[in-house]
Amino acid sequence: MSYTVLVTGGCGFIGANFVRYLLTERPDWRVVNIDKLTYAGNQANLADLADHPAYSFVHGDICDEALVNNLFSRHNVHAVVHFAAESHVDRSITGPDAFIRTNINGTFILLEAARNYWLGQQRQTDASRFLHVSTDEVFGSLGPTGYFTEETPYDPRSPYSASKASSDHLVRAYFHTYGLPVLLTNCSNNYGPYQFPEKLIPLVLNNAQEGKTLPIYGDGQNVRDWLYVVDHCEAIVRVLEQGVLGGSYNIGGHNEKTNLDIVELLCDLLDKKIAPLPGNAPRRSLITFVRDRPGHDRRYAIDASKIERELGWRPKYTFEQGIEETIDWYLANRSWMAGVLNGSYQKYYESMYGARTEDKE
Ligand code: NAD
Ligand code: TYD
Repeated sequence: MSYTVLVTGGCGFIGANFVRYLLTERPDWRVVNIDKLTYAGNQANLADLADHPAYSFVHGDICDEALVNNLFSRHNVHAVVHFAAESHVDRSITGPDAFIRTNINGTFILLEAARNYWLGQQRQTDASRFLHVSTDEVFGSLGPTGYFTEETPYDPRSPYSASKASSDHLVRAYFHTYGLPVLLTNCSNNYGPYQFPEKLIPLVLNNAQEGKTLPIYGDGQNVRDWLYVVDHCEAIVRVLEQGVLGGSYNIGGHNEKTNLDIVELLCDLLDKKIAPLPGNAPRRSLITFVRDRPGHDRRYAIDASKIERELGWRPKYTFEQGIEETIDWYLANRSWMAGVLNGSYQKYYESMYGARTEDKE
């Protein structure tokens, strides 16, 4: 029987890149993807793989206990890679309910289903081995120096990061209490193809092409540690295959940049790659400083030395390579962008974006 991985949230940004990665890099594995197809989940992200013989898609909610329980036994799940989540900090500020439901209750329902199946399989370590994909945001906010290690105490500060921290604790509790074979990863900010244009990089790439303003929260000096999504996918597989059960691994690219630096770089690269704005204005002229995000974490930076030392993983992409590939992908996939910006998301975006432009200095 081939190794079967249940991927949750496989139609989202990282999940879709991960499904692609697995079907290419582990051709003898089977992938079952359960996704609710929220505003952030798009089947178009995997349209070319829909008929792949090793791939099955289930349209469903991880909070649906009966459905989730059934998936484990029906597909003989060897491993779960759990991405499904509400993932945007700004949305967690305006509407935290869905974050509590999916990120906490949904993870709990999955853990229970995994545990039931694992018990039925005589507690084999390759029955519903549970890899929980989490974020560095659970560690809170850094000052100008220092890094998050696996030992950094949790200090989440947004409803999003608090919901992820809560799910991380549940996953660890299932290891310590029941012995469920779990693994945890805490990764820094990802960028790459298929990222929903509410997040900084695709939002800026889209607006800058269209000559719309580029909103920068606060003074633009907040720092994020950026990692190309394919490097994240590779790290997850490394942890799944070789990680110590019950352990957690920080994943990051040692690539700290201020938001302003990122946005200016994207503007300059687009100026080189595509037609100029009317009147030949540089795209940097679209930058608009707007009211800061409430509770905006100042700096994230990952110490990824554990995964490097113990599992031999380090990023393959430099930021220059990754961002070049990312920009080229978004330029070549305008119809993807138009597709995801349609419908209910557009209303949300306009309400947020309209409010922000009023704050113009
Ligand atoms: P995303 O918002 O792009 O995708 C989330 C996916 O989950 C979507 O396909 C959505 O339809 C699905 N989903 C949401 N609720 C669901 C539910 N109740 N049942 C089933 N499916 C549901 O998110 P992303 O950026 O790809 O992040 C994936 C995971 O990685 C999240 O757990 C996130 O916390 C974590 N993470 C993200 C980053 C990042 O930079 N994006 C960094 C570190 C960790
Ligand atoms: P985001 O992509 O939302 O990811 P996260 O909040 O998980 O780090 O934001 C990245 C950084 O960019 C964060 O410091 C907030 C900032 N930001 C802006 O300045 N303007 C924007 O329009 C967005 C979406 C984010």
